[in-house]
Amino acid sequence: MLYQLSYQFILLSIPGTLPKYQGAIIPHLFAERKNKAKTFSPKLFRKSFHLSPFPLQRLFINSRRTHLFLPIINYMSEFFNNKVVAITGGSEGIGRALVDALIPMGAKIATCGRNQDKLYNLQVKYSNHLLHSIVADVSRYDDCRNFIHSTIETYGGIDILINNAGISMRALLQDAEVEVIRKVMDINFFGTVYCTKLALNSIIERKGTIAGVSSIAGYRGLPGRSGYSASKFAMNGWLESVRTELLDTGVNVMWVSPGFTRSNIRHAALNSKGYPQGESPLNERDLMSSQECARQILRAIEKRKRTMVLSSSGKQTVFMNKFFPSLTDKLVKKFFYKSGELVK
Ligand SMILES: NC(=O)c1ccc[n+]([C@@H]2O[C@H](COP(=O)([O-])OP(=O)(O)OC[C@H]3O[C@@H](n4cnc5c(N)ncnc54)[C@H](OP(=O)(O)O)[C@@H]3O)[C@@H](O)[C@H]2O)c1
Repeated sequence: MLYQLSYQFILLSIPGTLPKYQGAIIPHLFAERKNKAKTFSPKLFRKSFHLSPFPLQRLFINSRRTHLFLPIINYMSEFFNNKVVAITGGSEGIGRALVDALIPMGAKIATCGRNQDKLYNLQVKYSNHLLHSIVADVSRYDDCRNFIHSTIETYGGIDILINNAGISMRALLQDAEVEVIRKVMDINFFGTVYCTKLALNSIIERKGTIAGVSSIAGYRGLPGRSGYSASKFAMNGWLESVRTELLDTGVNVMWVSPGFTRSNIRHAALNSKGYPQGESPLNERDLMSSQECARQILRAIEKRKRTMVLSSSGKQTVFMNKFFPSLTDKLVKKFFYKSGELVK
């Protein structure tokens, strides 16, 4: 425990290393302590700052150990108080963590998903709060219209739209049916197009924010995820165009790019035949938590960032791919394949 506290002290002493969280430090250290006994080692220290000399070998992965060095603090901000925030896919994973973080801040939330039971659970948990939830599949224009229009009817308008709903895939192009790629595009890309277009006038009126939850896969194509990468590249390019169109309106258009984050996304990822693969090829416990991811997304929205890559390994990947693309091809392949087989 002393070692962990001294790490925190070191971190706190380095200007600019910490996000400007508000609130009080909670005894997160104790929870982590229960999971794994830690002893000091220079390797551990280096890893926690992602200073590996071979950053891409640790591609996108935020070690769980990182949490030992961050003061896990409840992110609270006045900024979201009374704001109407529409989040697609708020019943699970990162979207759910966004809802959980925003409700205590006094935001008026609207969310959607395909599965009624998951939304019902959410509604039960927040029965005394301002939460509007509706079953909607964002790949269908009519569902998006119901979601956005009912949100505007309920709250009078929309300040912030977070295009979060998304699915992934895991199948090599040689095996994958084309429908798999189309489905991923329909949800991840066209879902963003439909909801943004439908909410646009209200967001312009309120000089609000349009955000997309993209991915590192939107900067660097990943094997086995060709449709997913395509959908996120498309989302980034589309939002960049819209951002430019809206520059003088007071609306901020942005996208954030998480690395691997603990959630249901890999279980739900489509296999070559278009069915959920039902397992994760990664050790989920080692990934960034959805809560941490949500905190960073909300900070980026509050600061009206243009884009944000959420992890240092993600930033390294984006950098490497921009300046050393051929080398990055090899490193990415090495990360995802073993003995010629796609294993991640
Ligand atoms: N987790 C990661 O490693 C990671 C990394 C980078 C980016 N992201 C992005 O983060 C976003 C959220 O992913 P997650 O990891 O939180 O995934 P998740 O745990 O699987 O949650 C996805 C959410 O989206 C909803 N959803 C899925 N398809 C939908 C559709 N067609 N219409 C409406 N809602 C739909 C799901 O509810 P229903 O199933 O009930 O519809 C669920 O609430 C995605 O855009 C993903 O690409 C995730």
